[in-house]
Amino acid sequence: MKNPIITVQSLKRTYLTHIGLLNKEKKLVEALKGIDFEVYPGEIFGLLGPNGAGKTTTIKILTTLLAPSSGQAKVFGFKAFGEEKKIRPRINFIFGGERSLYWRLSGLDNLKYFADIYKIPRKKQTELIDDLLKEVGLYDVRKRKVETYSKGMKQKLQIARALLNDPEIIFLDEPSIGLDPVAARTLKNMIRALSEKGKTVLLTTHYMQEAEELCHRIAVINHGQIIALDTVEGLKNRVKNEQNSSQMPNLEDAYIHLISEPNIA
Ligand SMILES: Nc1ncnc2c1ncn2[C@@H]1O[C@H](COP(=O)(O)OP(=O)(O)O)[C@@H](O)[C@H]1O
Ligand SMILES: [Mg+2]
Repeated sequence: MKNPIITVQSLKRTYLTHIGLLNKEKKLVEALKGIDFEVYPGEIFGLLGPNGAGKTTTIKILTTLLAPSSGQAKVFGFKAFGEEKKIRPRINFIFGGERSLYWRLSGLDNLKYFADIYKIPRKKQTELIDDLLKEVGLYDVRKRKVETYSKGMKQKLQIARALLNDPEIIFLDEPSIGLDPVAARTLKNMIRALSEKGKTVLLTTHYMQEAEELCHRIAVINHGQIIALDTVEGLKNRVKNEQNSSQMPNLEDAYIHLISEPNIA
């Protein structure tokens, strides 16, 4: 058995939010209530759960963008909080809802800009960027402004951006949100290809079919707790047994059953 590439132990994160008309009242939100999981090299690991379950919080901690309140998150054996510099050059991420491209710049200029940020030597940039543009199928439109790109093309550019530093782990937070079926399938094929190249992928999605087709293992998270962690087959079997059913559920059925179970904690 290989060593895990990501280790999460008793991870907690709370947020202090201000509520009330004058923002005078404070409320503590327990976004993560102490979660544990491991991800192995080359895996496509799915994090599934309803809105507000704690998926983005988990990814923000693992990508060193957010500090945990307690517990431990390690990437390549390094602490996500405290040893960020050892982790950052070796990972990359796409946050679905966020705009991390410059729409006024061309696709090509975006990649040049980020290549500078990732400190990729100028001499290496031209060939690398051309290769990535070809890989994601944007070479012919590389000189067009991103604002003229379709959503699917923007997402392909995000993937190219996320591959600039040849990361060992790619974190994808709802990457397929809002994509049409053709673009979603292209993205799915790209994710699979990354895993086949040995990259580790941590993926969140609300599309159960996508998760079912892609993920080697899945953690189902609800109200800041992991309520199930298994292979797709394992999750389906568990629900089949719990429901005493003769028919094998699909992942969507299994997921809905799992998240509607009474909260044990
Ligand atoms: N910056 C923040 N300030 C206050 N509460 C937050 C913040 N970010 C997330 N939360 C809360 O933490 C919980 C988990 O959020 P999140 O990790 O974004 O869930 P998910 O990605 O699964 O939808 C939610 O209740 C959310 O409202
Ligand atoms: Mg989220």
